[in-house]
Amino acid sequence: MSEDTTKGTNKTVTITDDSTGKQATFPLVTGTDGPPVIDIRRLYAELGCFTYDPGFIATGSCESNITFIDGDKGILLHRGYPIEQLVRHCSHLEVCYLLLKGELPNQAQFDKFSSDITNHTMLHEQLHNLYRGFRRDAHPMAIMCGVAGALSAFYHDSTDINDPYQRMVASYRMIAKMPTIAGWAYKYSLGQPFMYPKNDLGYAENFLWMLFGHPCEEYLVNPVIARAMDRILILHADHEQNASTSTVRLSGSSGANPFACISAGIASLWGPAHGGANEAVLKMLGQIGNKANINEFVKKAKDPEDPFRIMGFGHRVYKNFDPRAKIMQKTCHEVLNELGVESEPLLELAMALERIALEDEYFIERKLYPNVDFYSGIIFRALGIPTTMFTVLFAVARTVGWIAQWNEMIEDPTQKIGRPRQLYTGSKRRDAAPIEERQ
Ligand code: CMC
Repeated sequence: MSEDTTKGTNKTVTITDDSTGKQATFPLVTGTDGPPVIDIRRLYAELGCFTYDPGFIATGSCESNITFIDGDKGILLHRGYPIEQLVRHCSHLEVCYLLLKGELPNQAQFDKFSSDITNHTMLHEQLHNLYRGFRRDAHPMAIMCGVAGALSAFYHDSTDINDPYQRMVASYRMIAKMPTIAGWAYKYSLGQPFMYPKNDLGYAENFLWMLFGHPCEEYLVNPVIARAMDRILILHADHEQNASTSTVRLSGSSGANPFACISAGIASLWGPAHGGANEAVLKMLGQIGNKANINEFVKKAKDPEDPFRIMGFGHRVYKNFDPRAKIMQKTCHEVLNELGVESEPLLELAMALERIALEDEYFIERKLYPNVDFYSGIIFRALGIPTTMFTVLFAVARTVGWIAQWNEMIEDPTQKIGRPRQLYTGSKRRDAAPIEERQ
């Protein structure tokens, strides 16, 4: 490594191609925090090779100033603020403002933002027809992908990505409408009437109202449940370049409209290795059944021949603990206490599983700890949310992260269409024969 004058760095990395003896030097760029990155954009031009990194284990895909994670220390910051403080002092809508605009709002800014968001909570009435096209037993995440993507067919006045005003309106629309889309997906599965948003309620309260209210009698949102929901939304709001956020960025890099990009993000989130893990945790705890069976399932998880994994355990970035999981576990106890649930067998089973796994050499060696999804499902269940809606809640919460990251990408002057290269291992060039000549 030697001195260099490139912005944000005074170091370089030199790579030598041993087969040709050619050398090229690349800037080592440092950010505000975290490890430096080697800027290899000129690698192919200089050395005629690409990097190979399936799963992006060692690849920074963009520059971002929204969220910082130190996986070894268990630190999560949004715009510099620790997640623990945001959960303690802010509402989810304040965190939305922070993620979108870079600073926490003062009261006047918050009042304006809150009013702007609530202006957009309704869905176009014709969307009822789209819901009715789904089977009643459709998974609500399937409905979420469809309806979020369909917004681009309804809100043409906010799909021009080159117009900052339209981008802002699209961002507000996504944040405002996702709870309504989710609430209606749930109502549709029950065969109950869709509930319209109530704009005098807070964000989490309104969401609960659309999930659990119905027209024939008064439904008062329990403030304990509303606060817990709000906290859960904050804990899931953003998480830098995870699979779904990277999907939103990659989709958006081609110039696709924001509604289509968010729909792609929802699809990625659905997978059990990502947001679908919260639903998978509950299914897994159901399969384990009781404490006596834990060892058998831990053994399965350790068997390289068996695809079974302890759901809600492990993380690509966190190699010590997931700070969100700690808050989630605490919230879980608080919610159960406040709801007067004296004993929750699933929580006891989850805690016993956590204890056994954390003392097991396999999990210690691989630095596998509970992640945010390990306890969230238990809280959702206590709040009366059905299992199939767990990942939907994650999607509602993550919408602000997706849209903030999408905006950041569009505004980045160095942004290009995302277009990875590959290591080709298929056939060399060969000739195609007509069908009658093939064996
Ligand atoms: N149970 C058992 N073994 C595991 C687990 C687990 N949950 N997670 C990782 N491992 C093992 C894995 O088999 C591998 O072992 P070996 O080195 O012997 O091959 C080693 O640990 C490293 O795992 P990896 O799959 O290479 O790690 P990754 O960074 O690619 O995957 C992960 C991260 C989250 C996908 C993975 O840990 C996992 O599948 N966990 C269960 C699903 C889950 O809880 N997902 C939610 C993630 S947090 C919220 C979110 O992102 O939405």
